[in-house]
Amino acid sequence: MTDRQFGLPDSGRPAEELLAELRALTAADLPTRGGRTTAYTYDAGRPGVRAAAEGAYLAMLEVNGLDPTAFPSIVALERQVVGAVAARLGGDERTPGIFTSGGTESILLAVKAARDARPEVAEPEIVVPATAHAAFFKAGAYLKVKVVAVPVDPETFRAVPEAMAAACTDRTVLVVASAPSYAHGVVDPVAAIAAAAAGRGLPCHVDACVGGWLLPWLAEAGAQVPPFDLSVPGVTSLSCDLHKFGYAPKGASVLLFRDQALRLAAYFACAQWPGYPVVNSTVQSSKGAGPLAGAWATLQALGADGYRELGRAALDATRWLVAGVGAIDGLRVLGTPDATLVAIGTDGEDPPDLWELADESRGRGFFLQPQLSVAGLPASLHVTLTGVSGEGVDGLLAVLRDSVAAVRARGPVAPPAELLALLGQLDFTTLDDAAFAALLPAAGLDLSPGAGTRMAGVNRLLDGLPPQLRDRLATRFLSALYSPYLGAPGA
Ligand SMILES: Cc1ncc(COP(=O)(O)O)c(C=O)c1O
Repeated sequence: MTDRQFGLPDSGRPAEELLAELRALTAADLPTRGGRTTAYTYDAGRPGVRAAAEGAYLAMLEVNGLDPTAFPSIVALERQVVGAVAARLGGDERTPGIFTSGGTESILLAVKAARDARPEVAEPEIVVPATAHAAFFKAGAYLKVKVVAVPVDPETFRAVPEAMAAACTDRTVLVVASAPSYAHGVVDPVAAIAAAAAGRGLPCHVDACVGGWLLPWLAEAGAQVPPFDLSVPGVTSLSCDLHKFGYAPKGASVLLFRDQALRLAAYFACAQWPGYPVVNSTVQSSKGAGPLAGAWATLQALGADGYRELGRAALDATRWLVAGVGAIDGLRVLGTPDATLVAIGTDGEDPPDLWELADESRGRGFFLQPQLSVAGLPASLHVTLTGVSGEGVDGLLAVLRDSVAAVRARGPVAPPAELLALLGQLDFTTLDDAAFAALLPAAGLDLSPGAGTRMAGVNRLLDGLPPQLRDRLATRFLSALYSPYLGAPGA
């Protein structure tokens, strides 16, 4: 570690030097363009669109989204962005919405709105399918709302409307459906779930964070897309991230409401302090307008035709991948994806170890995101296919075939029974970050320089632990990662 990495320099450094340092740092990151990182990143593959977004982002860099009366430009842009999303997703120009920093913030605000719209419920609950995004559990934890996770159909991975309805009680303030779920890419039966919720006078939120700006274009390309948006009776709010299939720079999501009363319940105001009166539509108060401008510019630069083409390309790539995975001995696609997100699981008599498979594939140039087993659902590797993924599908299938062969050749790997038992008994409260970091090599995590990025040991360990213990371990890992006890993975 050099002083420079930790200290403020005595004199300012030139911009070129700083940018060179950033380039060097990001060289160890997963690539953000080209479709070989099959999660986290969404590349439209169009330099002109990127340039428009970058330019707009920088043009609004210093505008503060805190005060729309001081900076009316943000109102004009937000109205346009929300209006464009609403018009495509079953609303119209009067549909109330909020531009947020991402899916998690949209979901937090949807849950807050539902909770605050029912102040008489002392111990509020939300009913979600077990496949709902972790953001609902985060919202529950932050907002003190109990999350009732209802098992999904184990074959289709879709929510079961009858089971969702049966889980509703007098304490329920919101019912949730995903369109699609992130893990398996399947759309829940939104119409039936929303109808049952409405029958009990309950609001229904559709988490279309990943699919909201994808499914309409897939439908236009001929895919069977079940109804999921605000046009469905009973759907009262919907989240749609533009920093996913909107291909906008990160920090861009839209939360739509069927009516104004619900949007008002998402807002926050405070004039009970001696400073400026605060009124916020989002969790953040001061915030850059760059993400809003970047999203606006991306929508304008791509236009409906651009999204249509990207949607068609992503759909073709997905069909190709699904057929190809089905033909690889030992692998299968979980469920029947409705979108361009695919969960690859194992099957057969000699299933390859998924975690080794992820490491092998990463070593061969494709990052596949590990998804742990939970709620009776099997573990899998996640692939999100975007408009640029098509070029890489042949390569990905070849990598999967070679990786399965390599993993099988090494033989089965037993779960670390002793370590699992030890972790179950460990009192995490007595461990400091340094002591925790010292345990990691035993768990198979070698973060020393040049050790590479093999995560199989850690994934296998986590998969063997109960979810609460996984969460505790993961937070300790994060804490140690930001303390000086660990290097950066892959550094
Ligand atoms: C269905 C769904 N909901 C919510 C989120 C959370 O979004 P974010 O990471 O932007 O907070 C995601 C992210 O992948 C998602 O796929």
